[in-house]
Amino acid sequence: MEALATFLQHLSTALAAQQLRKLTLSKPSSKQSDWLNLYARPVEIKGQYNLSCTFRYRTRDEVKNYDEKAAVEQVSAWLDTHFRQADLFTDEGHFSLMISKKGKATLKHKQETVKKPDSLSHDHQKNRPLSDRPRPYLTALGIAGADGNILKQGRRKFRQINKYIELISHLLENQPLSDNAHIVDMGSGKGYLTFALYDYLVNEKGIAVRVTGVELRPELVDKCNAIAKGSAFSGLQFIAGDIHQYRPEGGIDMLIALHACDTATDEAIARGIVAEADLIVVAPCCHKQVRKAMQPRSELKPMLQHGILLERQAEMLTDSIRSLLLEREGYQTKVFEFIGTEHTPKNVMITATKNQASETAQQEIDQLKQLFGVQRHHLEDLLAD
Ligand SMILES: C[S@@+](CC[C@H](N)C(=O)[O-])C[C@H]1O[C@@H](n2cnc3c(N)ncnc32)[C@H](O)[C@@H]1O
Repeated sequence: MEALATFLQHLSTALAAQQLRKLTLSKPSSKQSDWLNLYARPVEIKGQYNLSCTFRYRTRDEVKNYDEKAAVEQVSAWLDTHFRQADLFTDEGHFSLMISKKGKATLKHKQETVKKPDSLSHDHQKNRPLSDRPRPYLTALGIAGADGNILKQGRRKFRQINKYIELISHLLENQPLSDNAHIVDMGSGKGYLTFALYDYLVNEKGIAVRVTGVELRPELVDKCNAIAKGSAFSGLQFIAGDIHQYRPEGGIDMLIALHACDTATDEAIARGIVAEADLIVVAPCCHKQVRKAMQPRSELKPMLQHGILLERQAEMLTDSIRSLLLEREGYQTKVFEFIGTEHTPKNVMITATKNQASETAQQEIDQLKQLFGVQRHHLEDLLAD
């Protein structure tokens, strides 16, 4: 494919000459693909000119950086397997590559240009759902300083918060909330995400929602309620109590539980299912209940004799059964890593959206339980009650 080779040559030249403005890959070859498109821009990392690629999936974005050689190799591979259109903007103009369904590539060139990137900073603020304008609740929560600027020690948390918001906003694009929807954050802790989500939906997006944080520790609840009042967030409240006991008036439209300890994640999922929430989003924490209950068949024992492997298997089993139970109860689920392990090792997320009930899920749960000798799974017990 001569057109493809020429396109890659222009990409390589633009990267070498530091003249790349932006690159997009679009039109996935398969309609089933979860990966929708790719947006890339130049960034400078440790003095090196790199290509920063934002992978846009149905429910999240992921960013990876490549040096010149790796970038050209990757783009070549992606055009081979994933996308049928590529648009490259450089100082030389716009190169547009189209690959037909039969694999025939055509390259067009126009003199049109796009503005030079303002900055090659790696830590680019513009793509973030929450810009870093002063937000008093971030100061009160210790993420920003008195002047409203994000503190050095708050940057990681701020990035994490933005990642959650980005993910949730993608989910809401496919499953919009009804007016005055009620969002419940179970095990809201210090309320970082609860505040940010409310601020994003109400103040940035203009969507009318009520948000409730449910948290066992009353001192955190009091502090969060005081900050909500000070921020004039009238639709945000925190309630002291146990997830298991929580029965909201008017139901739950969207349930979130991030890093709620061990079986608290199960309690949260159960409350979401019982309340028939349209969306359930959980990032599980530790997985003690199933690990303690596992008595695997003898063939599996060599694999599970080492603590770390047993722990990882327990985690997989716990979350697989959670996902299957959600499917049994009429949800479509996705399980994925939502943020790099450098931000948090607890980076698996389960999302569930209302769909048809799976008829095979129970059988699959039973088989898994039998294989690993697990008598009970806490979520299954809760749903049986
Ligand atoms: C690890 S923190 C996570 C906090 C917050 N979701 C976040 O991601 O920043 C877990 C929180 O869940 C709370 N929690 C655990 N079990 C709970 C339960 N059964 N009911 C209410 N809150 C609970 C804990 O007190 C703790 O504040």
